[in-house]
Amino acid sequence: MHKEEAPFIYLDHAATSWPKPIAVTEAVTHAMLNDAANPGRGSHAMAVRASRVLFDARKHLAKLFNIRNPNDIAFTSNTTMSLNLAIKGWVKPGNHVIATSVEHNSVRRPLYHLERHNQLEVTYIESDATGKIKVEDVEKAIQPHTTMIIVNHSSNLLGTILPVAEIGEVARKHGVKLLVDAAQSAGIMPIDVQAMGIDLLAFPGHKGLLGPQGTGGLYIAPDMELEPLLHGGTGSQSETPEQPLVRPDRYEAGTQNTPGLAGLREGVKHVLKLGVEAIYEHEWKLAQHMMEGLSGVKGVRLLGPPLGEARTGIVALHMDGVDPSELSFILDQHYGIAVRAGFHCTPLAHAAAGTSSTGAVRASVGASTSVDEADAFVRAIKEIREQYRI
Ligand code: ALA
Repeated sequence: MHKEEAPFIYLDHAATSWPKPIAVTEAVTHAMLNDAANPGRGSHAMAVRASRVLFDARKHLAKLFNIRNPNDIAFTSNTTMSLNLAIKGWVKPGNHVIATSVEHNSVRRPLYHLERHNQLEVTYIESDATGKIKVEDVEKAIQPHTTMIIVNHSSNLLGTILPVAEIGEVARKHGVKLLVDAAQSAGIMPIDVQAMGIDLLAFPGHKGLLGPQGTGGLYIAPDMELEPLLHGGTGSQSETPEQPLVRPDRYEAGTQNTPGLAGLREGVKHVLKLGVEAIYEHEWKLAQHMMEGLSGVKGVRLLGPPLGEARTGIVALHMDGVDPSELSFILDQHYGIAVRAGFHCTPLAHAAAGTSSTGAVRASVGASTSVDEADAFVRAIKEIREQYRI
C-alpha cells in the first residue's frame, strides 16, 4: 500500500497520546479566551478563574491517584522535570539510591550527574531480558545510607510492569523513600499512592492522562520536604527572599501553564470516566492481539513479557537484517503508520533486552486505538518481512 492510499495510524502513544478528547482541545481554547490571566497573582476575577483551573486540575489528579491533599501535587512541564525535582530535591551528598535496569534516561542522567560529582552512590537492580526484577534483590541492595528507591512503573521499551506495591512495602519497612516514574502508567494503570506506599509520583500530562504537551506533575508526600528545583515568584509571601514553605507554591515558581492545565483537567476527567481498569484492559488486549499476529513470523523478535502476561500497550520488536530507523521510515512513508524507532532514551532497557547494538521499533497503543489499527500494523510488518526476506 502506498501512503496516499493509507489512513494515518498513530501508534506512538508511549511518546505522546494522540488524538486528544475534543474536550481537552476545547478547554485549552476556552482558557486562552476566558481564563488567561496569571493564576495566583492578582485578585481580579480573571486571575481567580485561572487559579480555579489549576485547583480543579489538582483535585481531579488527587482523585485519580488517591492523594489526600491536592496541594501535595506540584505542576511541572513534564515527567523529566518532576523526576529531577524529586531526585535533586531529596538526595544529599553521601546518600545511596537504588534504581532498576529498566529506567529511562530521565532517571539515569540526573543520577549519573550526581554520581559524577561524588554526591551519590547508585545501585541498579538487574532485570531479566523481559524487564522483570526481583523484589528481594531490591531489599538486599538496601544499605544504611540508602535514602531512595526509584522504580519505573512500566518500561517504555518493554511494557513490563514492575511490582511497585511490593517495593513500597520493602521501602516502608526500611524507612527508605519510594519514587515512582509513572510516565507509562499514569492514566493507564490503577495508581493509589497511599495503598502502594508511594512517597513521590512523577507523571506526564501528555501521555495516558490525555492532556497537552508541556504539562506534568509530582506528588510529594506530606512528610517530605524537597529542596525546590526553581526559586522565584509564587504570588505569595513576596516580602521574604526565602522560597515559601506553603504547597504547592514552594515547588511552582514562575507563571504556570494555565491553558495546558485546563486541557489536562479535561484529560483526567476523561480517564476517570472511562476508568483506568478499562483502559488497561483495552491496551493489554490490543498488545496481545499484535503479539499473536506477529509471533511465529520468522526473523521478527518481540521484546518484553511473553503472551498472556501483564504489560502496558507497548509492543517493541526487532526485525533481522532491517535497521529499525529504516523499518519505521517504511511504516510511515508507505503505510501511514507512526511508531518510534531507535533507543527510546532507555539504553539500560535495551541492554537488558539484548538490543543495545541494534535498537528496536516500538508500536504503542492508546485508549483510542482500534483493533483495525493494530491489524494494519501486523499486516505491514508481515509484508515488509516478506519483501526483506534474505
Ligand atoms: N519517553 C517517551 C518515549 O518513550 C518520550 O517515547
